[in-house]
Amino acid sequence: MTRSAVRFVRRGQVVALDDVAPTATLLDYLRLSEDAKGTKEGCNEGDCGACTIALGRVRDGRLVYEPVNACIHLVGMADGAEVVTVEDLGTPEALHPVQQAMMEHHGAQCGFCTPGFVMSLFTLYQDGRASDRETLNGWLAGNLCRCTGYRPIADAAFAVLGRPADDAFAQAAGARAAELAALDDGEDLLLGDETRFFAAPASLAALLALYGRHPDAVIVAGATDVGLWITKALRELPKIIWIGRVGELKTLEESEAGLTLGAAVTYNRAEAAVARLEPELGLLWRRIGSRQVRAAGTVGGNVANGSPIGDTPPALIALGAQVVLAGAEGERTLPLEDFFIAYGRQDRRPGEIVARLVLPKPGPNTVYRAFKLSKRFDQDISAVMAGFRFEVEDGRIVSARVAFGGMAATPKRAAATEAALVGCPVGDIAAARAAADMLAQDFAPIDDMRASAAYRLDAAGVLLVKAVAEAGGADTRHTRLRGFREECAHG
Ligand code: FES
Ligand code: FES
Repeated sequence: MTRSAVRFVRRGQVVALDDVAPTATLLDYLRLSEDAKGTKEGCNEGDCGACTIALGRVRDGRLVYEPVNACIHLVGMADGAEVVTVEDLGTPEALHPVQQAMMEHHGAQCGFCTPGFVMSLFTLYQDGRASDRETLNGWLAGNLCRCTGYRPIADAAFAVLGRPADDAFAQAAGARAAELAALDDGEDLLLGDETRFFAAPASLAALLALYGRHPDAVIVAGATDVGLWITKALRELPKIIWIGRVGELKTLEESEAGLTLGAAVTYNRAEAAVARLEPELGLLWRRIGSRQVRAAGTVGGNVANGSPIGDTPPALIALGAQVVLAGAEGERTLPLEDFFIAYGRQDRRPGEIVARLVLPKPGPNTVYRAFKLSKRFDQDISAVMAGFRFEVEDGRIVSARVAFGGMAATPKRAAATEAALVGCPVGDIAAARAAADMLAQDFAPIDDMRASAAYRLDAAGVLLVKAVAEAGGADTRHTRLRGFREECAHG
């Protein structure tokens, strides 16, 4: 059976829309169709958070609200969710606790960013986790305020966070979860016709059959990049296939061997398991986009996208990850580094999709590091992204995997540098510097607006030396400005 209307819950009612453009965004739907103009448009590219709304979904039997950027979230991707906007939280006579706290602590001046902050804080309020500064900073990294300043906003947050949610949403959670479960009919969704559609197949077989018939369709996971093709590049995308309802692609499996992440598993959902696999990856996760971006984006999408400056491919290549591709002929597995062939070209045959990533568990003699270098700590695109995996015996590196992003047309291993590292004593800075000299053989980076070629080469060498120093036991308070491993391990 195929359903021809997207359905989501809005203010306790099921909304069914059967006439939606494939590229219609939730922000446009809310503002133009519903006239719900509390949700603002700022950057229209997922950066500022003015358009933040909450999507409620049932996860592991529990209703979870996550913040998303409505400007780059397609209407069809709300299928099966509850859509909550700032208008739904309270009334002028009875504000929501988050709104009340923002008012009492003077958390708004011009007010343009305020609905976005309120919605992000609403999701943290529902989440109920501890109200420490690190959590709050991470949660609000995707909300930009230009005039109030963050202290009053943080004061408002601390006034209401850190205790179980007690509002109408928390009280209705059970009933709402049942309502959402009833929407999950397991049917394929096709909005439109064979020439122009938004499709959300419910199984891998249906996805591959549809993609086989429409190889010109764009596969979308979180739309955190494709959303910008729509809002910034103004591209016509007449056929979109969203993988967010494909059960086989939502697998998240932890085992002794490692971690398997289906291509539809979001960063937020993967966060805890990734940090358990390797704490360094947990630190990196915090710096991928924002909470809103990580609520929608997926590692599978980051890989399939093939960008030379994606955050996860260098880190995962160094780790030794594999990518599993699925097509009509079945599945095949590649070392992740082999997936990236050239700029904009990946080893993906017609009709094939990225199905999952397999991340191996580091062994007891493994030292792993992932470093992201960007102009801002939060919510920025990397100038250089580095991943290192050393196997260490008797104080020496016996094998090395080194991968960089931002240094070539694809995420790429550094073969000459890896060879030079073998035999290097961990902590030996001179030996590390000598190995770093080999980076010029491995890479010929380019100048662009993020960094010059010379800076990239220098910085890559510094990151390598840092990894070798830390492998030798260097105190991370001396090697890092933020994100000390020790503190984060306890955080
Ligand atoms: Fe800026 Fe959506 S409008 S993130
Ligand atoms: Fe003006 Fe935040 S209150 S931008």
